[in-house]
Amino acid sequence: MIRLDKYLADMGVGTRQEVKRYIRKGSVSVDGKTVKAPEQKIDGETQRVAVDGQEIGYAAYEYYMLNKPAGVISATEDQRDRTVIDLIGDRKRKDLFPAGRLDKDTEGLLLITNDGQLAHRLLSPRRHVDKTYYARIRGRVTEEDVGSFAHGVNIGSGEAQEWTAPGVLEIIAGGEESEILLTIQEGKYHQVKRMFEAVGKEVAYLRRERMGTLTLDRDLKPGEYRPLTAEELALLKAL
Ligand code: URA
Repeated sequence: MIRLDKYLADMGVGTRQEVKRYIRKGSVSVDGKTVKAPEQKIDGETQRVAVDGQEIGYAAYEYYMLNKPAGVISATEDQRDRTVIDLIGDRKRKDLFPAGRLDKDTEGLLLITNDGQLAHRLLSPRRHVDKTYYARIRGRVTEEDVGSFAHGVNIGSGEAQEWTAPGVLEIIAGGEESEILLTIQEGKYHQVKRMFEAVGKEVAYLRRERMGTLTLDRDLKPGEYRPLTAEELALLKAL
């Protein structure tokens, strides 16, 4: 059970003060009857709440799989750029955030949720959750690079060394521009790009394909999203 004013504020109808005003002036109904008490307790599962006749459903948690497009930033708000949250047109909750970050020019799998516990478990370095990236690389990726990545590479600059943990590099197509899959368990700043820099190559295109048990849905074009299925969510929670 949840207070009526909190219910409406959680669903982004307004601030707590604003929704109290709507309630007191009689704009809000519960199961068809006007309710003027902000403290009234609501069962989000069974009761129907409406503001000016428009029904406002309750969701305690939301989970979306987004295929992040390039040009959008992994943040909740930004003065200049569109954020990944702006792309979730169907969202009910106002407290959604991206579970982890992808660079502005990176595409691919991003989980958007308001479940802080689940996000923390996915992102905590101690949990060693696999993240798999597809990339096109300027230059010929070699078996030697596969060996270097298997040991870990130094992505520090100048005197300052910064070694990565081992990563699994798979060459899909060799050539002047190579295609690869790289699986790592860390999430250091610009990690994939810096790992290739460390072996003298440059990432031309980067897309995240997988995070733990979650795989990017092939049917989602960049910029598209969908709710997680019950099975995807159950598997993530069991990680
Ligand atoms: N590594 C990068 O370099 N960029 C990303 O966006 C993700 C991983």
